[in-house]
Amino acid sequence: MYSSRMNGIQLSGIRKMFDLVKGDSVNLGLGEPDFQPPPVAIKAVREAMEMGFNKYGPTNGIPQLREAIADRLRGSWKNITTENVIVTNSGTEGLFSTCLTFVNRGEGVLTPDPGFVLYRPHIQLVEGQIREYGLVQENEFRPDPDEISRLIDERSKMLIVNSPNNPTGGMVTRQDRDDLVDLARDKDLILLSDEVYDSMVYTGNVHHSFLGQYEKAVVINSFSKIYAMTGWRLGYIAAGEEILKKISLAHYHMVACPATPIQHGALAGLRSADGFVETMVEEFHGRRDLITKRLNEIPGFTALSPPGTFYSFPSYDLYQNGSRIPSEDLALELARNGLICSHGTSFGGRGEYHMRFSFVNTRENIHKGMDIVEEVSRKFVR
Ligand SMILES: Cc1ncc(COP(=O)(O)O)c(C=O)c1O
Repeated sequence: MYSSRMNGIQLSGIRKMFDLVKGDSVNLGLGEPDFQPPPVAIKAVREAMEMGFNKYGPTNGIPQLREAIADRLRGSWKNITTENVIVTNSGTEGLFSTCLTFVNRGEGVLTPDPGFVLYRPHIQLVEGQIREYGLVQENEFRPDPDEISRLIDERSKMLIVNSPNNPTGGMVTRQDRDDLVDLARDKDLILLSDEVYDSMVYTGNVHHSFLGQYEKAVVINSFSKIYAMTGWRLGYIAAGEEILKKISLAHYHMVACPATPIQHGALAGLRSADGFVETMVEEFHGRRDLITKRLNEIPGFTALSPPGTFYSFPSYDLYQNGSRIPSEDLALELARNGLICSHGTSFGGRGEYHMRFSFVNTRENIHKGMDIVEEVSRKFVR
């Protein structure tokens, strides 16, 4: 009855943890800021609805928003115009529209492991072949162009890069970015760069965008994280004009157009939510330092200080009955003790012996959560 495309498609492993949530659990499992959207954005949505902006809009988004997005991105790509931007119904839709546009059955897509939970299912849904490259703690969770190069064969079509990265918090350096661009150009790959965390970057680190660096780069972005509007479902794609025209067809046939009033909210965010992002990132910065310190004080845990995102992805060396405890079992044990987090393997096999803790909760709750990790770990440390 079902298409073979659906074989093996499941909800992400993170969902299982949420079934275990008790009323008083500390939740460090979520992938969204614990902030409300900027008040100017909320007001703009309400006003847009009241003023009658409730109809279908242009497929590629309202022109004022495309213009404001182009302005935002001009620092990375000086010649960008509105024709290089389409507004999507979320970063997720942008990812899927891009996969639909480029990947034929059996073509290879290189994707990070560990990586964002939707990359693999999207590749599967377009019947592409998943080729995973590793992001390892020893290399600060940065992609290794040599490894990627070895994985490329004549069927390879697309390379997915995500910096700052979910779940690891790692980022590419300028050199990494340039090497990956050279590699994609040399092998004639589409380079899909997911940059939804581009503004969640901590002092001393710089986001190196792939925008305007390569004619076959497709950059995915979203309003979800930057304005804490994950439930509003709005994102965008920036790419070369011809490429974007094709992606726009996939986008059109799936969603017709992005939600009209919501676009007015995002526009107000870009135009007048002064200081909103900076305040949020400053708060995350403090929490990042706190969680990194706490984790490194727990016997068995090793945490890097993530340069970007709001995720910590420590490794652990803990044992049960003589063997290392799998991340899913450890996450279940933490959940039973009142802490929700995401086990490393929900992001791919190489996430084993890691946990993802999102610091999208109060400092008090981060402390409570780390107390639970400390207590649970004590049972398993060698
Ligand atoms: C790396 C990455 N890309 C894309 C998305 C999707 O964001 P959106 O809410 O815009 O669909 C997320 C959300 O968690 C993410 O972490």
